[in-house]
Formats: sequence, C-alpha cells, structure tokens
Amino acid sequence: MKINEHYRELEQSYLFSTIAKKVAQFTQEHPEQEVIRLGIGDVTLPLCGAVVEAMQQAVAEMGQKETFRGYGPEQGYDFLKQAISDYYGEQGIAFNLHEIFVSDGAKSDVGNILDLFSTQNKVLIPDPVYPVYVDTNVMAGRPITYLNATADNGFLPLPDPAVKADIIYLCSPNNPTGAVYTHAQLEQWVEYARAQNAVILFDAAYEAFIRDPSLPRSIFEIEGAKTCAIEFCSFSKTAGFTGTRCGYTIVPEELQFEGMHLNAMWLRRQTTKFNGVPYIVQKGAAAVFSPQGRAQTRENINYYHENAAVLADALREKNIWFTGGENSPYLWMRCPDGKSSWEFFDFLLRKAGIVGTPGSGFGQNGEGFFRLTAFGDQENTRKAALRLKEVL
Ligand code: MLT
Repeated sequence: MKINEHYRELEQSYLFSTIAKKVAQFTQEHPEQEVIRLGIGDVTLPLCGAVVEAMQQAVAEMGQKETFRGYGPEQGYDFLKQAISDYYGEQGIAFNLHEIFVSDGAKSDVGNILDLFSTQNKVLIPDPVYPVYVDTNVMAGRPITYLNATADNGFLPLPDPAVKADIIYLCSPNNPTGAVYTHAQLEQWVEYARAQNAVILFDAAYEAFIRDPSLPRSIFEIEGAKTCAIEFCSFSKTAGFTGTRCGYTIVPEELQFEGMHLNAMWLRRQTTKFNGVPYIVQKGAAAVFSPQGRAQTRENINYYHENAAVLADALREKNIWFTGGENSPYLWMRCPDGKSSWEFFDFLLRKAGIVGTPGSGFGQNGEGFFRLTAFGDQENTRKAALRLKEVL
C-alpha cells in the first residue's frame, strides 16, 4: 500500500487547529486569564428566529409519516435553489435551477470541485489566502503559482498576462485581508481567464458584508464570467450557519472545456459522492431569504459591522495600518514594532488575552500581519478594543 506522498508537503496541521491547540495550552497554564477569541471567523450570534421557526416546522414534518422525507436530491431541493436564484435575480443575474448546487458549505465544495480538473493544471493562488485553496491543491500535487498580494497593491493583486494559469482562485471580500475587488478589477480577471482558457474559482462567502453598493457581490456581475467562473457561497457567515452547515455553488451551463460541460461533471460528481444537505437545514437556509429572515440576518450583520468599527477605531487611535473592516468582517493589521505574525500572536495572547490569527498562516506575504475578526460577542469585542489600546 502506498500513501499519497503529497501529504508530506503539507504543514503539520491546519492553521486553525494549530491556533486552537496553542490557546488550549495557554488557558490550561493561565486559568485566571479571560481569553477573548477573535481568531477563527466563527459567528457568535444564534440562528435568527425565522430560520429556527422554519427548521422546527421541518423537524415536525420529518416526524409525520405523510410528510417524512428520506434521501433528497443530491444537488438540493428546488425550494432553496429557487430562493437562491431569486436572490441573484435581484442583482440582475439569471440562473436556471440546475446551475445551482446546494452544499454543506463553501469549504467542502472549494476542495471537492478539484475532482473536475486534471492534476496537471497550473493553479494561480493569491498570497496571503484562505489556506484551503493551497492545501487542497498540495494534496493533489498540482503546481501552484503564487500571486503577490501586498500593502502596495492594497492586497488586491491583478492578473499578469505573462503568467500562465488554468485554475485561478479569487476571494472577495477577501479572507484574510478584508479587501474587496471593484467591478473594473474583476473585469480584468475575467478577461485574463478567458484569454488563458482558465477557470476562476470565486469564493463569495463574505458577500453579505459588502455595504458599498458600488462593489460587486458576485463574479457574475461581470460580463462574460459565466463562461469562465464558478462561484461558491455560504450561509455560514451570512446567517450564522457555521455549525449548521449549508452553502451553494453556482456552475453555469456555459462552462465548457474540451467538449465537457463542468455543470454536468459536477452533477455527476455530487450524485456519486454526496447525498445532499438535510431537509431540515435546507428549510432553515430558505428562510434566510424570507422577508423576516432577511431583516433578521441584516441585523446580525450590522452587529458584526459595529464590532469591526470598534476594532478599527482602536487601531486608528494607535496609528496601526490595516485594511478591511468596512465591507468585510475581517481586519488585517500590520504587526507593531516589526514583530513577526507569530510573535505578535504570543504577545497579544499573553499581554491582553486576545486570540487573533497570524498573517503568516495565510502565506508568505502575510508575515508581519495579523487578522482580527468582528464575529465576536459585542461586549467582548469592546473589551478587546480597550485591551488593544492598552498594550499597543
Ligand atoms: C476563517 O477564520 O478563515 C474561516 O472561519 C474559515 C472558514 O470559513 O472555514
């Protein structure tokens, strides 16, 4: 038996597992220190009333012979796909229901989609980046070219026509930097992808945090994107589904390579390897799009925006350079006093009891930077802002 040798090339553990282990050790050694967690982007507000009610109703249906459901369609129930399609429709983007695939979250699909592509493909990944894009390609042994995202380009790198790519990862609003591409910038990406006969894997998991109406929330706002892009989205951050698990992936029928439709391939892949998201969860997800669901999730997003503003004020007061926090739940700050990302992680944990995420965990260009999330509890976030001001 031979193992997949590429696993030897991975970091020993996934970034957020490493952080969790370090924090667990710290709290064991310092039980007196109250720790505020602004590390992993995990929500703290509960599911909203509309979602809970819809799920309770679905649970009741599952308990009655007449309304019980067994296996559902692997690609999701029509009631949820219709709600998603209507949501895009409001932005002037039309999809047929078979172009929408309901999943258990963006992370799984971002990894699983690679089943459709040859391991010979050249992958272009911005650095710093959500580690899943890198790790899933390392596991498959695909050659990766990194694209430098730096303070100089506002952490929004643009394509270089001289660089060859087959698969391109973009995330906007960006995790970890919180930076958001404009329409004009995404147009450059679509043009580049089409010229290269490449596919863009566009992660829109944070689209609901965009407040500036001039910024694109979907790659499909760009003309021509349906011929070169797949979009991943999630209810995790929009509606507090990090523990409930539901997301969706849009694979336009126009996507055709070497005579094969990616939409048909993805359907084939999902029907073979996935049995769909639970009916109860899909009912909850559909309620996110109801008028009450929308108002309630908007309130929760505003709450996180307020947290971001509190953290941003603290950084401004201390003259710390940062991006994000405006149209994103993440703030990406430069570590003070020339500290490395992990040095600052240890410093902040020891001196202020605050957990953040070291920028270097997202790639080489993240070294010397640090990510804070606005997903914390409001009282704790205010406390964290005060502590930041004290120790910075
Ligand atoms: C993060 O903190 O980067 C995210 O929570 C990770 C994720 O969404 O999987």
